[in-house]
Amino acid sequence: MSKEKDTSKLWGGRFSEATDAFVQRFTASVTFDQRMAAEDIAGSLAHARMLHSVGVLSAQELAEIEAGLAQVQQEINEGSLPWSIELEDVHMNIEARLTELIGITGKKLHTGRSRNDQVATDIRLHLRAAIDTIAAELTRLQQGTIGLAEANTDTIMPGFTHLQTAQPVVFGHHLLAWNEMLERDYGRLMDCRARLNQSPLGAAALAGTTYPIDRAHTAAALGFDKPTENSLDSVSDRDFAIEFCAFAALLLTHLSRMSEELVLWTSAQFNFIELPDRFCTGSSIMPQKKNPDVPELVRGKVGRVNGHLISLLTLMKSQPLAYNKDNQEDKEPLFDTIDTVFDCLRAFADMVPAIRPRAEAMREAARRGFSTATDLADYLVRQGLPFRDAHEVVGKAVAHGVDSGQDLAEMSLDTLQGFCADIGEDVFAVLTLEGSVAARDHLGGTAPAQVAAAAGRARARLAER
Ligand code: ARG
Repeated sequence: MSKEKDTSKLWGGRFSEATDAFVQRFTASVTFDQRMAAEDIAGSLAHARMLHSVGVLSAQELAEIEAGLAQVQQEINEGSLPWSIELEDVHMNIEARLTELIGITGKKLHTGRSRNDQVATDIRLHLRAAIDTIAAELTRLQQGTIGLAEANTDTIMPGFTHLQTAQPVVFGHHLLAWNEMLERDYGRLMDCRARLNQSPLGAAALAGTTYPIDRAHTAAALGFDKPTENSLDSVSDRDFAIEFCAFAALLLTHLSRMSEELVLWTSAQFNFIELPDRFCTGSSIMPQKKNPDVPELVRGKVGRVNGHLISLLTLMKSQPLAYNKDNQEDKEPLFDTIDTVFDCLRAFADMVPAIRPRAEAMREAARRGFSTATDLADYLVRQGLPFRDAHEVVGKAVAHGVDSGQDLAEMSLDTLQGFCADIGEDVFAVLTLEGSVAARDHLGGTAPAQVAAAAGRARARLAER
């Protein structure tokens, strides 16, 4: 290790020996923060133009910086910019290259700015763009889910509690339950975006700067709603990253629940749906297998996303104001969360519209499971029995059905009257699956007409985005 002073460091002025080679590697972030290069350049352009507008940079200097940054961007696009660990991070790599290209004017870009407000700005810009892409993918998934629901407003399946057959529902109703989870996720994502969209630029290192900067100018140029209020908070706040990861953890929780249902439904035991081959894989040993790998993998991804949320919460815990190097640790969990969320949404948005329900198998499962038992109890209540007595009567009829291998609708009127003399011929209308779902005819119920109306409202909400 050389102890010679290293003159390449942009901050090397007060140092008398070179950075330890391991420390250099340990403290560098360029291997992962180079993904914010485009945002870093956008932030620098906005800053330089603002500096010119307030008279700190001349028109000539601004023009040189603009041309130089365009050149740097082009080199990054072409992959010819040699990212260097010695230059630590994306910010100093870009600035150093700019100065190489345009000379002394490049060194003026950092006037009235610090990497602390620079990085805070870059992350917000990067996450904001990611949020917009993710929002579009989430909307695509919701469109597919609602579309499948619309095609299945009278496809009867068993509804479950405790994973035991409970009451018949229509498949469209089940899918619209998924859509409600996703609708809330979308709302949370938009809440996160709204709080994120403020410009920390101008906070400089922590206290602001002595130059006559115009923070509203840079905020507007970068599409922020307004500048942040407090310089100390601006450079240290990472709430937006935590909020995004919290959104992600809950979204992935929802996707894992849907995945679990897809895994169950594709099994031979349920046989409720078919997933096209392109979303499944085979087994290298068992030739008959067609495994639902995509939903299984999405179900598993919730682990890393939950982990990233905990990482960021723990990262920020007890950090004193203002910027601390700890904050460099925010990027990898955040970036991996962005990528994981997008990939899972993409998988689901592609897969859900391709689900092929097996209506006959669903219907048969609903028929077999005494799913209209509650309807029989409600019928007896209409005949004048108190609900608890009706419950008792139907329980006995079900026990008989279990013993004799019959569903309630398959029993003769005589048999049914053996349990309660008040039962009449009209009982069979309520024991049918169609009668059962159609009777739940109110807002939020599973009657096909209600489900069709709910799908219409769900579509209307999407159209308002
Ligand atoms: N690479 C750093 C980060 O990601 C940039 C900010 C560095 N600021 C500093 N004062 N060392 O947080």
